[in-house]
Amino acid sequence: MNAPDKLPASTEPHVMKTYGRLALALSHGRGCWVWDTEGKKYLDGLGGIAVNTLGHAHPKLVPALQDQIGKLIHSSNYYHVPLQEQLAAKLCELSGLTNVFFCSTGLEANEAALKIARKFGHDKGNTRPEIVVCEKAFHGRSIATLSATGNPKVQAGFGPLVEGFVRVPLNDVAALENVAKTHPNVTAVFMEVIQGEGGINLATIDYLRAARRICDEQGWLLMLDEVQCGMGRTGKWFAHQWAGILPDVMPLAKGLGSGVPIGAVVCGPKAANVFGPGNHGTTFGGNPLAMRAGVETLRIMVEDHVMENAATVGAALKAALIRELAGVKGVVDIRGQGLMLGIELDRNCGELLGRAAEAGLLLSITADRVVRLVPPLILTADEAAQIVAILCPLIKDFLATTPATTSATTAAP
Ligand SMILES: Cc1ncc(COP(=O)(O)O)c(C=O)c1O
Repeated sequence: MNAPDKLPASTEPHVMKTYGRLALALSHGRGCWVWDTEGKKYLDGLGGIAVNTLGHAHPKLVPALQDQIGKLIHSSNYYHVPLQEQLAAKLCELSGLTNVFFCSTGLEANEAALKIARKFGHDKGNTRPEIVVCEKAFHGRSIATLSATGNPKVQAGFGPLVEGFVRVPLNDVAALENVAKTHPNVTAVFMEVIQGEGGINLATIDYLRAARRICDEQGWLLMLDEVQCGMGRTGKWFAHQWAGILPDVMPLAKGLGSGVPIGAVVCGPKAANVFGPGNHGTTFGGNPLAMRAGVETLRIMVEDHVMENAATVGAALKAALIRELAGVKGVVDIRGQGLMLGIELDRNCGELLGRAAEAGLLLSITADRVVRLVPPLILTADEAAQIVAILCPLIKDFLATTPATTSATTAAP
C-alpha cells in the first residue's frame, strides 16, 4: 500500500474535531479483515457502521466499480441516468413499492421523507403538518433530521429545532392511538424498524402491524427508516418484511452501495407522486458510480446468497454470544436480528471500543452501554466464532474490573 496513511492518526490539525477517534488509521482490507497503517490486522465487526455489505475489496465488486469509473463517474440529473432506472426497478421488485428518489446519504434520504410527509399534508390542505417520531430514534444530523431524532445529546446546541414533530415511545400502541385522537394535523409516522444508534431497539412485529393499521385508518404515511437495518442486514431485504407489512416511504442508505455513498427513498403509491418536478433534487444523488455500486451490490448479494448468510451467521453469532455471556453479571440483554446485534451492559462501556481494537476487533458502542456488531454480511461462521472468542473475554474482564459508575460516551455518526 502507498502511504499518505503513514502519518500518525493523531496528526490531523486541519480536520475538524467532530469525532472521538481511536488512534489508528485503516489502510486496506479484504473480506471481513482490515489492516491499519502499522500493519496490524483487525476483524471487522463494524463494517464501516453497517455500510460495507460485501466487506472490503470484494473480487466481484472491485472490477465492476473500476469499469464504471473508467466510463462515467458523474453526469447530472439534467440528463437520464439509465443505471438509476435499473437500480430503482430492482429496489421496487425487492420491496413491493413503486418509485425511488436517489440521494447520497442517510440523512438526505430522511430529509426527503420528511419533505414528502409535509407536502402530503399541504396537498390535502393541511398547512401545519405534524410527523410522529419515536423516543431514542436517530435519523441524522441535519437540522430537520436531528429534530426528528430522539436524543437530546444530538440536539444540544442546535436549537431552535424544527417544529412539527410529535414524539412517542417505541412499541407503545396506545400512545400512537392517543396521538390519532389528539393531533388532527399528523400526516405521517416516521420510525426505524430497529433503532441502531438508540441501542439496537427492535420495533415489535405487533407494533409495526399496529402502526400500519393506524396509518391506514388515519390516512397517514408510514415512513420506515431502514438506513441502518435495511439491505439484507436482518436476513430479509428490509427489516419491516418480518412483519409482513408495506411502508409508504422507506429511506435507505448505508449498505446499499457497499461503501460508495448512496441514499434512496423508496415510495409506494400513496407517496410516489407527492414530489413533482422542482420539488426536490440533489447534484450528486443518483450518479452513475453510486448507481453501479447499488446495482452490483444487489446482484452479488443475490448471486452469492449474502442475505441468507446474514440470517444464518447472525443467528449463530447471537446464540454463541448468549451462550458465552450467560449468567455474567452486568450483561443486561443480548438482542438484534441477523447481523445487527447489540449487547447491553449495565454501565457505560465506551472504553470497550479501544480495548476491542487492541485485541484486533472493530466494533462500536451505541447509547453509551450497548456493544454493537454490524459486520459485513459476508461474515463466515468461522469469523463469527472469532468475534465471540475475542469479544466475550473482553466484556467479562471489563465488567469485572470497571465500576458500574464509569462514564464514557461515543458519538453517533
Ligand atoms: C437509522 C439511521 N437513519 C439515518 C442515519 C443517518 O445517515 P447518514 O450518516 O448517512 O447521514 C443513520 C446513521 O447512522 C441511521 O442509523
